[in-house]
Amino acid sequence: MIMKMMMVLLLVSQHALGGVVEVNEGAESVLLPCYSDIQPEDPFLIWTRSDLSPNFVHLRRENDDDLKNQNQRFRNRTSMNPDALDTGNFSLTLRKPERFDGGNYSCSISGGIKELNLKRIHLKVKVGQQEVEVTEGSDSVVLPCRTSSLLPEDTSVEWTRSEPEFMMVHSSSNQRNQDGFYRDRTEMSKDFLRTGDVSLTLRNPRDGDGGRYVCTVHRDQDVLRQTVVLKYVKEPFPSWASALLVLLVLVLIVSAGVFYHFKDYFLKAPLVKVDSGVKSVLLPCKTKLYLPGGARVEWRDGENRTVHVYPNGSDDPEEQNLTNSKRTRMNDDPLKTGDLSLTLEHPRFADSGIYTCRVSIWKRVILMKQVHLQVKGQWYKC
Ligand SMILES: *[C@@H]1O[C@H](CO)[C@@H](O)[C@H](O)[C@H]1NC(C)=O
Repeated sequence: MIMKMMMVLLLVSQHALGGVVEVNEGAESVLLPCYSDIQPEDPFLIWTRSDLSPNFVHLRRENDDDLKNQNQRFRNRTSMNPDALDTGNFSLTLRKPERFDGGNYSCSISGGIKELNLKRIHLKVKVGQQEVEVTEGSDSVVLPCRTSSLLPEDTSVEWTRSEPEFMMVHSSSNQRNQDGFYRDRTEMSKDFLRTGDVSLTLRNPRDGDGGRYVCTVHRDQDVLRQTVVLKYVKEPFPSWASALLVLLVLVLIVSAGVFYHFKDYFLKAPLVKVDSGVKSVLLPCKTKLYLPGGARVEWRDGENRTVHVYPNGSDDPEEQNLTNSKRTRMNDDPLKTGDLSLTLEHPRFADSGIYTCRVSIWKRVILMKQVHLQVKGQWYKC
């Protein structure tokens, strides 16, 4: 009676015996589906791979696994539901599928001598993955996935993630399972059954979207998979910030140049300290700037009175009045040597103050330096 039933089943299911299951190398596990509602007496269930020796992948007897003769490459990597023989769910879970796990797997049930082949699965372990990059601030990104066109009516597609935890990103058949993180952000072409294009459009990509996505197509007996790795690139530096930085650098360069050129204006006046009663004091003023021959050098005191002019004998009578003390002198040829230092003889306490050395040409100042003179002493000593 049982044998008869088996024969009928064998004939009926022969055409739908095969299936393809695809998995990506590095996946946690892959399920090789196999179902049957026949219950022979004293049954045992065998998963085999005929190209291997020994060819046993997994064997279940009554309620125990019998793995004595298991091919060692599957050791500790296979499992079946404990109640498989009661429920008729003979699916095999293969953990950590590797490239060499690809091949043809058979699920058979046996009730004594007669063995009935229930299912043949061609397992493909895919290596390599597609990579897609999206930059922060993009409107959307397409995760590409293609399968054969003219898919059967009941084909369903799932986009999932397994890291950092399992997430349903999009399901063509039941969006209620979708993870909240992806709500209202995913879309697949309505026409995918005809075109076979099951790519996913992900809108408003954000931090956290980067990672591995698996597109799974359930087509008849087949489970087809494709992995897409999405790289989420944060804008390293917003463009307005780059522009600002460039501007800042330019401003720095220009101001450094300006400062260098007019550094004599900005530097604090050096202090020259002497005791009253010394013969003379030198107020330093040196430059490496080129000083044109017609330039005019002028020393002024803190009250902006001219104390010395070069060349001597300025034709401004007012200046001559101020410089007639004859206590000041400069070296020869100051414009050529760049040494505009002023010697002040017999400095007195009252001479203390800020002195300015100025070079101008046609009334335009081209150099200005200050010296702070401090003459120690007291009024009554002068
Ligand atoms: C059959 O068992 C596997 C686990 O071994 C499970 O993932 C799968 O969902 C089961 N199938 C059905 C239809 O319950």
